[in-house]
Amino acid sequence: MAPYLLGLRLDGRRVLVVGGGRVAQRRVPALLDAGASVTLVSPSVTPALDDLIATGRVTWERRPYQVGDCDGAWLVHACTDHRDVNTAVAAEAEAKRIWCVRADDKDASAAWTPASGRVDEVGVAVTAGGDPRRAAGIRDAIVGALRDGTVDARRHRTKPVGVALVGGGPGDPGLITVRGRQLLAQADVVVADRLAPRALLDELSPDVELIDAAKVPYGRSLAQEKINELLIEHARKGRFVVRLKGGDPFVFGRGGEEMIACARAGIPVTVVPGITSAVAVPGAAGVPVTHRGVSQEFHVISVHVAPGDPASTVDWPGLARSTGTLILLMAVERIKEIAETLVRDGRSPETPVMVVQDGTLPTQRAVAATLSTVAERVTAAGVRPPAIVIVGEVVKVGQEIEMVRAERIP
Ligand SMILES: C[S@@+](CC[C@H](N)C(=O)[O-])C[C@H]1O[C@@H](n2cnc3c(N)ncnc32)[C@H](O)[C@@H]1O
Repeated sequence: MAPYLLGLRLDGRRVLVVGGGRVAQRRVPALLDAGASVTLVSPSVTPALDDLIATGRVTWERRPYQVGDCDGAWLVHACTDHRDVNTAVAAEAEAKRIWCVRADDKDASAAWTPASGRVDEVGVAVTAGGDPRRAAGIRDAIVGALRDGTVDARRHRTKPVGVALVGGGPGDPGLITVRGRQLLAQADVVVADRLAPRALLDELSPDVELIDAAKVPYGRSLAQEKINELLIEHARKGRFVVRLKGGDPFVFGRGGEEMIACARAGIPVTVVPGITSAVAVPGAAGVPVTHRGVSQEFHVISVHVAPGDPASTVDWPGLARSTGTLILLMAVERIKEIAETLVRDGRSPETPVMVVQDGTLPTQRAVAATLSTVAERVTAAGVRPPAIVIVGEVVKVGQEIEMVRAERIP
């Protein structure tokens, strides 16, 4: 017979747990979250349960189970390693008409614990014919869909308003945050950057208005003004606007300018940080941006203005003197000048460099070089933006990691 699913409101009610092992360790926190007053009967407990006991959240009777322990309980969990003890606990509970969950024998158990999960106020509970792994798998799929917005649990709640500046991550659609994905699923209008993860845009429902910010005409700074106007105009019409950007909105993403423009217009703005390509792309290429004993600092630099250009505010001599990792964005077209500047200002021409194009995407590729060879290698390999240039000894660490992996992992 299929079980009858019920949500027990255990606040302040006594629950007896017999057994102090791994099963009890999993069950007790959920009972406490539901407000239950938990009594645990067992000669010994795991360290995790011991912590709960030490903080006074669980009452521990340090002894074996004895008849009468079920008295006053609303619910009983029999989860010892001994079948005869679990049988005795279940028999006492049954005689007293108390629901008992047996961990060792689903067929002999009066009640089953479903695989459960929670996303905000939505609770998910799954049973699968007594197969806990299957139930957990289904629960994970549902909880995942609720979290990423594929299943919209918020449909009947107040719709978000204004503008959300959402960091889409470096390109792989799996690297946007859960919050970012949820807001994207609720958008009426999406204004997307050139580097915003394209795959996420394909998932938008057909009634969502998609504006490609890369195609807004007027040249660089005027285009930004036009984008600000679009955000404000749509939000004023009561539409929820998601401004989807590559990486993090505030790392060379002009998120600050858009935020100021919206604030001036009285439009509420939510900021959802993103995983910046500055850290994620080196990581995807196997290069740690810091490494103990090698580099204890990393500098993230936009090279949209070349070194030596009067408009540049970058302290190139300072960067050349430092031993930290340099992460250069928008640098591919100016790589020759950059490498020459760093060498002229004091970095060794032998400093390792790696250039990573299309990081985290299926087309990702990397070119390894040194400061003296990088310009030539980038040209020979035909590297195109978007790319990240990593300068420093950490590149060698990445190569060492790769070598060890290739040797050891088939
Ligand atoms: C205008 S900046 C935006 C940075 C973004 N806000 C971030 O946090 O990643 C664009 C530059 O980021 C770098 N970039 C972004 N995504 C990249 C990727 N998937 N692979 C390599 N470089 C990337 C390139 O240097 C590109 O020219």
